[in-house]
Amino acid sequence: MSATTFQHSHSAVTARLRWAGCVFAEDEARLLIAAAHAPEVLERLIEQRASGLPLEYLLGWAEFCGQHIAVDPGVFVPRRRTEYLVQEAARLARPGAVVVDLCCGSGAVGAALAASAGSIELHAADVDPAAVRCARRNIAAAGGHVHEGDLYSALPDALRGQVDVLVANAPYVPTDSIGMMPPEARLHEPLVALDGGADGLDVQRRIAEEAPSWLAPGGWLLIETSARQAPTTAALFGHAGLSTRVVHSEEFDATVVLGKRQEIHRK
Ligand SMILES: C[S@@+](CC[C@H](N)C(=O)[O-])C[C@H]1O[C@@H](n2cnc3c(N)ncnc32)[C@H](O)[C@@H]1O
Repeated sequence: MSATTFQHSHSAVTARLRWAGCVFAEDEARLLIAAAHAPEVLERLIEQRASGLPLEYLLGWAEFCGQHIAVDPGVFVPRRRTEYLVQEAARLARPGAVVVDLCCGSGAVGAALAASAGSIELHAADVDPAAVRCARRNIAAAGGHVHEGDLYSALPDALRGQVDVLVANAPYVPTDSIGMMPPEARLHEPLVALDGGADGLDVQRRIAEEAPSWLAPGGWLLIETSARQAPTTAALFGHAGLSTRVVHSEEFDATVVLGKRQEIHRK
């Protein structure tokens, strides 16, 4: 496409997306034009985007921690906020560490960790078969393993007591608040990826309770939560016997609770 044709098409597509309410219309227009290999494909993409389909489902990928992560329709779209969870976990994952990404969705967190922490033994798990299929594509490249099933029951038993870093961005939206989420999330992302039960912490509660039997001595559990829910999330970690702290990033508008299993000191 010549520069003039691109400019014309870019302005026209931007205007249509802006009219449909897309906040980042200019950037989205550029991405959709690049993704379409024919005018009729571009037309279909614009119509789908204008009707509210998440941009990432149309592109087939999301940008996360500087990587393109494959995202299939019906799989949670990784959020920029969650890059903070990766940043915190990467500081704790030494070369050779056993790392588990529970509730992995597309596998974005695990894949980004493998890219930033170097040679780790990576396992990821999710209960949703669509997420597992998608995560396999993202995590295979990092030499990781993806398991399907409910929380820890998906993991190989050999990992008990061996996990150095256990990360989870589990669903944490209270059931009553789902209806207030942006339509892109509530209409297109699966409920199992969003709904955290009455107080939003049902899944986190189960993760924290069982974490000590999967963590290695001195191993870490990190869970993304909201600033409002953080004190309760931290209390769940405390009940599980983990020494706990809460960290917050203004830059990412993100909150992470970290818990450490006690080290074993030999005499
Ligand atoms: C908020 S999404 C996060 C996905 C991914 N970690 C990310 O940050 O992009 C939560 C994920 O948890 C998964 N999930 C919900 N309940 C689960 C359970 N009981 N066991 C395993 N995975 C679960 C959902 O299928 C969904 O993929």
